[in-house]
Amino acid sequence: MSADPAEQRIADLVSRRFGIIMRARHAATVCAALHDRAARRGQNFRQYIEVLEAGGSHEDKDHLIAQVTTNVTVFYREPHHFDSLRRHVMDLPKDRAVRCWSAGCSTGEEPWSALTTIAPLLSEEKRDLLLVLGTDIDAAALAKARAGLYPLKALDEIPLSSRLYFEVSGGNVMPHRKLRPLMRIRTLNLIEPFPFEAQFDAIFCRNTLIYFAPDQRQDVVRRLTARLRPGGLLMLGHSETLHHLPDGLEPAGLTTYRRVE
Ligand SMILES: C[S@@+](CC[C@H](N)C(=O)[O-])C[C@H]1O[C@@H](n2cnc3c(N)ncnc32)[C@H](O)[C@@H]1O
Repeated sequence: MSADPAEQRIADLVSRRFGIIMRARHAATVCAALHDRAARRGQNFRQYIEVLEAGGSHEDKDHLIAQVTTNVTVFYREPHHFDSLRRHVMDLPKDRAVRCWSAGCSTGEEPWSALTTIAPLLSEEKRDLLLVLGTDIDAAALAKARAGLYPLKALDEIPLSSRLYFEVSGGNVMPHRKLRPLMRIRTLNLIEPFPFEAQFDAIFCRNTLIYFAPDQRQDVVRRLTARLRPGGLLMLGHSETLHHLPDGLEPAGLTTYRRVE
């Protein structure tokens, strides 16, 4: 709870729309940025809050999201998840589609890591059976994920065995162009109903739910579980261990869960 009623209105709005619970200190920083934006539009802060509460423009929404989200990510973060993913895909029947979803993918390092983990396991002619979906609410982060261009120092995050699947060009590192058609990057707000029926062999939802209220977190985990194929894996962030497993989910390693067959 914030003592400042304007900050509280913003905190309520952010929690209602995006599921994110803002800490008081964070709310003050976010409100300062919104204050500046209101002033540039010739509005006072209260008028701008009303604009946001009424929905605002795409730009207003994107600006607000950029203020409240944390986009920190790296390639192959928590490598044990990629080891589990590799083992899981190796055990799948050959000749059937492999689907992986990175929900809360930020600037894309996570879905690209998943893609470059799975692709080598499929023969060239079977590669188009693979599809990796990366989703997020942050439009600016998604634009980077889609572009797939990263500074050269990102190479340090990529294990030697996977570097073959990246190219260096114009001072950037990027996933190999042959892999690009296997990636879909889309906007998706996790607290809204998922706009597709697909089921996945693996879902990464890491370091995203920690910003949500516990009931919201549980609801998202339950809905993600329903999107796993039987035997499919759900990977959460290092501090997101589930203490109450939803029906149909069992532990399968460190912050890794399996949908019961
Ligand atoms: C810290 S990043 C995690 C990136 C990556 N999963 C990882 O672990 O490295 C958290 C991401 O969650 C996204 N996010 C926050 N609330 C969201 C929501 N309601 N729906 C979808 N994505 C959300 C943010 O935009 C941000 O990019």
